[in-house]
Amino acid sequence: MKDLSQLLSSIPPSATLAVNDKAKALKAAGRDVISLAGGDPDFDTPPTVVEAAIAALKAGDTHYPPSRGTMALRRAVADKCAREYGMEVDPARQVLVSPGAKFLIYAIMAALTNPGDEIIIFEPYWVSYVPIVKLVGGIPVTITLPAADNFRIRAELLAAHISPRTKAILVNSPNNPTGRVLSPDEAEVIRQAALEHDLYVISDEIYEKLIYEGRHINLASLPGMAKRTITVNGHSKAYAMTGWRLGWAAGPADVIGLAAKLQSQSVTSAASFTMSAGVVALEGVDEEVETMRRAYQERRDFMVDALNAIPGVECTNPQGAFYLFVRFPGLGNDSLQIANRLLEDAEIAATPGIAFGQAGEGHVRFSYATSMDDLKRAVERIRRLMP
Ligand SMILES: Cc1ncc(COP(=O)(O)O)c(C=O)c1O
Repeated sequence: MKDLSQLLSSIPPSATLAVNDKAKALKAAGRDVISLAGGDPDFDTPPTVVEAAIAALKAGDTHYPPSRGTMALRRAVADKCAREYGMEVDPARQVLVSPGAKFLIYAIMAALTNPGDEIIIFEPYWVSYVPIVKLVGGIPVTITLPAADNFRIRAELLAAHISPRTKAILVNSPNNPTGRVLSPDEAEVIRQAALEHDLYVISDEIYEKLIYEGRHINLASLPGMAKRTITVNGHSKAYAMTGWRLGWAAGPADVIGLAAKLQSQSVTSAASFTMSAGVVALEGVDEEVETMRRAYQERRDFMVDALNAIPGVECTNPQGAFYLFVRFPGLGNDSLQIANRLLEDAEIAATPGIAFGQAGEGHVRFSYATSMDDLKRAVERIRRLMP
């Protein structure tokens, strides 16, 4: 047979999905594995959101919707941008609704990138960024943020990686995997660099609603940033809607237009009836979101205290998202080995830090989007595992 795609063959499968699959296989074989590997909230989608989808289905909303998303949902996105960020966004030209934020990042990268263009990505990074940049023909330029500096973005470090081929900076706050929330100083570092070098910024804000300390900064609403920033967000995390596959982006009309073209020629659109539910999520479930946020905060507080009390385990206090980036000096510095020890000897599935780039080495990522009961059992097992 003739060769398959060299580009696709060169891209590794998602490490987080691989750990999840291994954990599921062990579970299926009867092992009592506690999975802290996934990024999927253990909460159910709020009932009013589910009901809106059922009502849409019953009302016959089962046909092709507008490719960019229903006007009702695009308007709800624009209203949110006005309400929460003080940003004017034209729902007809500047908003795109897609089956998930991951596809949006792909579509926006494709819209921005010509072969050889460089995209700056901070390490540790969410596992899909580098493959996505490669898939669209770009060159990922990763910047290692040292753990010893609490993964802070510094102006000198950023400046040292900008070249005439740099097209965009990819930012993720609150961050997966570190849980860090961008500080006003760091946002200013990014803004200055973007203005000085005429760069686009893709701001992945999908964990925006899950912040425990600090304040979310929408980069697009900072001075001079609207015309160069694409905000990516979605329903998966804040509203416990991972399986619905619904996300949105807002940004300059020309970038959104090209991303919409890719969508219309590939996946066509998000699913029709999910979009009615998406409106209710954006407008009507603040209380449910706050209840989930509080629960995550309680779990985070428990885990950070409990893990730091175990000799040979170190964990900083993340300000947002639902991940802990944990070091196990008592088990060494090789994150693959640590994750394997945790799985084999403590039956805990965790993602090795190296999956998030070199800066993640020495860490494993735990997700606390799982029940308090499981978290308590996991801590107990780690206590027993540590020498
Ligand atoms: C940082 C980040 N961006 C985007 C996504 C993708 O979300 P979606 O389910 O909307 O595709 C995830 C999911 O884990 C994520 O962690």
